[in-house]
Order: sequence, then C-alpha cells, then structure tokens
Amino acid sequence: MDLLEGSELFQAQSHLYKHVFNYISSMSLKCAVELGIPDIIHNHGRPITLPDLVTALEIHPSKTSFVYRLMSLLVHSGFFAATLPLDKNQERGNHNEEEEAEAAYDLTPSSRLLLKDKLPCLSPLVLTLCPATLAPWQYFGNWLKGDNGTTPFEIAHGMKLWEYAEQNPAFNSLFNEAMASDSGMLNLSIRDCEPVFQGLGSLVDVGGGTGKVCRIISEAFPRLKCTVLDLPHVVANLPDTENVKFIGGDMFHFIPPADAIMLKLILHDYSDEECLKILKKCREAIPSDDGKVIIIDIVISKDREEHQVTETKLCSDISMMLMLTGRERSERDWEKLFLEAGFRSFKILPLLGLRSLIEIYP
Ligand SMILES: C[S@@+](CC[C@H](N)C(=O)[O-])C[C@H]1O[C@@H](n2cnc3c(N)ncnc32)[C@H](O)[C@@H]1O
Repeated sequence: MDLLEGSELFQAQSHLYKHVFNYISSMSLKCAVELGIPDIIHNHGRPITLPDLVTALEIHPSKTSFVYRLMSLLVHSGFFAATLPLDKNQERGNHNEEEEAEAAYDLTPSSRLLLKDKLPCLSPLVLTLCPATLAPWQYFGNWLKGDNGTTPFEIAHGMKLWEYAEQNPAFNSLFNEAMASDSGMLNLSIRDCEPVFQGLGSLVDVGGGTGKVCRIISEAFPRLKCTVLDLPHVVANLPDTENVKFIGGDMFHFIPPADAIMLKLILHDYSDEECLKILKKCREAIPSDDGKVIIIDIVISKDREEHQVTETKLCSDISMMLMLTGRERSERDWEKLFLEAGFRSFKILPLLGLRSLIEIYP
C-alpha cells in the first residue's frame, strides 16, 4: 500500500467515525438544552467561566472536568464560543485545571436560537430527540427488507405516530411544542410574505397544531380570520381568540371553506397518494376562481443550495420515511403532484431558510 493510499484511508476512517459519532453531537446538544446552558450564559450577561457555569448548573464541583469536556465538543461544533485558553487546550489536545478555570463561554448564533425567553426558540425541537423518536431507527434495515406496509415507527411502537401522540399526552405536548417552536421562525420572514396574504379574508391552517402559524399571521395581518384544523387531541382545550379559531377534525374527511388553505409541513408527512387526497380536499375548500393553497415545506434543490442544506433536507427525507409515510420533494416532484391534483399553476418563493413557500392556484 503506498503512502497516499494510506493517508486517504485514514481520512476515510475519520469521515466514517464522524458519521458513526454524529448521534453524540445530537445528544450532547440535547444535554446542554436540558441543563439550560444557553439561558445560563445569556443571563450571566458576559462570557461565563467554567467554575461559574458549574455553580449556576448546581453541579457538584467534582464533575467540573466533565462539563469542560461537554463544552469542548459543543464549542467545536459551533454551539458556543470559547475564549483563548480553551482553544490553546484544543491545539495541545489536553488540558489542565488551571486552563479549565480560565475558559469562558459565550453564545453563538446557533445557541441564541435555544434561549427560552427569546423568539424564535428551537429548544423544544432539540428535545424531540427522545426514546419514542429514536426507537424506530433500530428497525430501519429490517423494515426495508420486510414486505409489510407499516413504517419503522409502527414496528417500534405498534401504532402510527399520530395515534401514539393521542395515547401519550407527554409526547403529544413535546411534539406540539416542537412544531410550534419551528413555526416561530416564520416571525423572521412574515413581513416579506405580505403579497401572499394581501386581499385574503379567511385562511384555514390544516394540521396547524396549536396555532402558532395562525397567531403569527393574524398579528401581521389583523384583518385575516384564521382557523386551525387539527386532530381533536391536539386542539382540545385551546381557547379561540377573535382572529384564531380551532376545529378538531380529520383533513382527509373535511376541510372548512376559506379564501386560502395553509399546509405547513403537512405534505412532506405523506406519500404522493395521500397528498393527492389532501390537495383535492383543499381544492374543494377554496373558491375556484381566486382561491389558493399556501404550502410551507421543503424543496430539495441540490444544484442550487449549499451542501449542508441539502444534507439536512436529505436527513429530513429519511426521517419522514421512518416516522410517517412521507418524503421530501424536488421542484419537479411538487409540480407533478400539483398538476395531478388538478391545480393549474404554482409559484415557489424560497423565503424561509430550509423551507420554501409555495402558492398553488386552481
Ligand atoms: C408535522 S406537524 C405540522 C404542524 C404545523 N403545521 C407546523 O408546521 O407547526 C403535522 C400536524 O398534522 C396534524 N395531523 C395529522 N393527521 C391529521 C389529520 N388527519 N387531520 C388533521 N390534522 C392532522 C398533526 O396532529 C400535526 O399537528
């Protein structure tokens, strides 16, 4: 074996181990959220030293070096920033107690998205890394080889995701809070979407969860009357307000009529056949001349987006396959679906980071 081949193989080993260890990055991030580290740093008002962090965490000082190691990984992966002594440690590949005491940690843009009192806050989304969502991954290969029509989620839990949410109130809350936290990102771009909502009198957010999207839209456009349609266990006990009403129901059976129907992260949960059923119900619910369906979902555009963005979307695609019957779609896939469902035209606005806003017209 020549030298080059040897170094290529070591690089390959490093690449492979990185992906084997990816779950450690995810679970360390979850640990930081559970401990409230982003809020502690934020409330401290300036970079926090390791001893101060350990005190604020109410962790026994004997575990200081463990917190240091957790923070080292999270600094390396960009969730926190550290002052120089920590960087020196990383260069040398070791550390001592004196250097640990000197390290001071600050927030980065990614951990600013985890602050509980600031909007948007994505901490609830991180907390969905829980046993219920992790169990299906153990069945991935066997499920692919099998010939049954269920999902790995059903193999792991003996029921579909929405049924599981209905029967497990703690998971239901966790999931609904995660979705609401994701929807909070819409606050950042709702003003850019003004032409989309202009002239509309009513909107139904189908599968609208606990109503976060409707609240954001109705605050930005107070003349718009919004209705959230979701499963009864999701909307039970949610109080109506003047501009946001809740209806418990099943979108496959009935969607209340409105000028526009919103579908945020709904169609990617479902197969093409199921999407066609939902889109046909949407079409029945809107005026045939000037109604529209507003979709917020992922569009995979491999040749136009950064490598990391495509990787995130492809991971989401696999997640939809394991948790539900869904998939992520390219522009071409979406177009095929819209035309088959009887819509004449569509417009894609890549306004929302990982998601696009798509308007479709009957
Ligand atoms: C991925 S979540 C999206 C929630 C919300 N649109 C958002 O983006 O924050 C899917 C939502 O669809 C709801 N859902 C699932 N099946 C449904 C059905 N048959 N009828 C109405 N809502 C449904 C779920 O309860 C859940 O709130």
